[in-house]
Amino acid sequence: MKDIDTQRLSADEWDELNFPRPEVQDFDRVVERAISRRGFMSGVLAFGSGAAVMGAGLLKGTTALAQPASRFPFTPIAAQTDGTIHVPEGYSWDVLVRWGDPLFSDAEGAFDPANGVSLEMSDRVFGENTDGMELFDVEGREILVVNSEYTNNDINLPHTADGTPESADDVRILQNLQGVSVIEIAEGDDGWSVVVDSPFNRRIHHNSPMTFSGPAAGHDLLKTEADPTGMESLGTFNNCGSGRTPWGTYLTCEENFNGYFGATGDMPSDPTVAEGYARYGISASGSGYNYHGFDPRFDVSANPNEPHRAGYIVEIDPADPEATPIKHTALGRFKHENAAYAIAADGRLAVYMGDDERGEFMYRWLSNDVYVPGEDTSSLLVDGELSVAVFEDDMSGRWLPLTPATTGMDAAMISIFTRTAASRVNATTMDRPEWIAVNPNAAEAYCCLTNNSRRGTTSDSGAVRTNAGGDPMSVNAANPREANNYGQIVRWRPMGGDHGAESFNWDLYVMAGNPTVAEGMNAGSANINEGNLFNSPDGMQIDNTGLIWIQTDGDDSNEGEYAGMGNNQMLAGDPVTGRIERFLTGPNGSEVTGLTWSTDRRTMFVGIQHPGAPFPDGEGSLPRSAIVTVKRDDNALVG
Ligand code: FEO
Ligand code: CA
Ligand code: CA
Repeated sequence: MKDIDTQRLSADEWDELNFPRPEVQDFDRVVERAISRRGFMSGVLAFGSGAAVMGAGLLKGTTALAQPASRFPFTPIAAQTDGTIHVPEGYSWDVLVRWGDPLFSDAEGAFDPANGVSLEMSDRVFGENTDGMELFDVEGREILVVNSEYTNNDINLPHTADGTPESADDVRILQNLQGVSVIEIAEGDDGWSVVVDSPFNRRIHHNSPMTFSGPAAGHDLLKTEADPTGMESLGTFNNCGSGRTPWGTYLTCEENFNGYFGATGDMPSDPTVAEGYARYGISASGSGYNYHGFDPRFDVSANPNEPHRAGYIVEIDPADPEATPIKHTALGRFKHENAAYAIAADGRLAVYMGDDERGEFMYRWLSNDVYVPGEDTSSLLVDGELSVAVFEDDMSGRWLPLTPATTGMDAAMISIFTRTAASRVNATTMDRPEWIAVNPNAAEAYCCLTNNSRRGTTSDSGAVRTNAGGDPMSVNAANPREANNYGQIVRWRPMGGDHGAESFNWDLYVMAGNPTVAEGMNAGSANINEGNLFNSPDGMQIDNTGLIWIQTDGDDSNEGEYAGMGNNQMLAGDPVTGRIERFLTGPNGSEVTGLTWSTDRRTMFVGIQHPGAPFPDGEGSLPRSAIVTVKRDDNALVG
């Protein structure tokens, strides 16, 4: 077996490497930057004075000693640097399913430790690089729906020289290993396992039929030679975070879809198409999948509209294996991280979403119709209003509607080029919005802003760096750290406790940092201490008890500014006191991403993506992304 790179990149890091963003901006933007510098200073003062200004009292005086009785049901663990998983005393973990495990009996033994899986079996097994997941109780059966975000080509195609697909079959293997797996799971005497051959088991991959809904459905920019209606699509791509609807369907979120496309000839010259490609990072070379070399659908010289058919929220019915997934264009096209719903005071459906790229935005969908359990829900992700967030330095904020009146774009163009629409209303550029979580016990929501090394930095010409649309990434109160390598979590509370309100107040729940090696902003907020160091918050869920579970996708070198942080990990945070404690550490090289619970809340399911070491099977095997179970040894509730 050839050497496998033990320091793997997450899909986000791949995208940043492959699609570097512009470093210069025009003169108007520079003037704007100067103005916002003054704004930032007031923001910093507010931040620096911490709790008094922010009201919630979170950023000062939140050390463990100052806390009331602990809400944490576990003893925190130390940072780790080895190749396995660690959980607190009194808890145990086990493997539920790994990339290559069979979902159907004809795929038993399909995974070869040295060679992976064959083309024939590649859509009969659990997918690669597990990410967001949700569990559904379907007629008393536990149905887990799981994203497979991207591939590790050198691991998935070990017969190739460097992981670059060398044939149409190689491309097809990669296409089959990504997308979504629907699996029935059950707990027996030996723990949890996949119910092989369950009628609910299903693989949805890069060639699975889908339909479009919403304003962009049928638009000229979605029409292709294979689909002259612009109504039907094949495949869902770069399925990152997850979401669910209150009516029991799964939402998969298409993130770095741009990397699958490339060109064998000329790039499209149509100005609208070309401008969109620039904003979304679609290039002639793609990011290593080489689909375009063997599958003309991904060759933008031949099919310039194909990229317009990805980058959406996709709804999947876990209870009906025959149901066609729906790409809901009304919720916008961008690098969707996840989708977190809340019900507004009047019963309308709100869905919060982040666009994970440096300097992109946070969004809210609000349905026109109200959600009534048991009644027709088919309009709730189709008819409504998409808004984008503004975070003011005085810690107020508001949702700016993206409409023809506010953007000068029609509804279909807003759905297809959502980033452009948001730039036109001057939304706040954010430090890469990853997962959003809604607190079930309080009217508030949280977003992980994972990092942004370019925040507040300038290019050689002295101009502040921008996002891909030219919006300056000047520092602001919600994104207050220049060259932000650690990340932060922003929290907002909708006015009147109503997730349908136009405005909100916000604060920073935590600024990650390292007080053992840095001072000032890089030390982090007061709820960061030597015992809970981490960087790059990413995955997030809030459990029924109100604990915030935070997963990381950061630098696990454990050196320099990252000293003491160890491997990527999962921590728990108390939303009231701000206290944060480390619960789980992943294998070196991995990202911890994706979290859900069994129906009885006695098991947590945690995703381990792109492990570096040959986890979990040990020497002699390819590394395998996996979902693990975490239980208490006394079988008590775990969230
Ligand atoms: Fe797929 Fe932004 O994480
Ligand atoms: Ca993520
Ligand atoms: Ca990430």
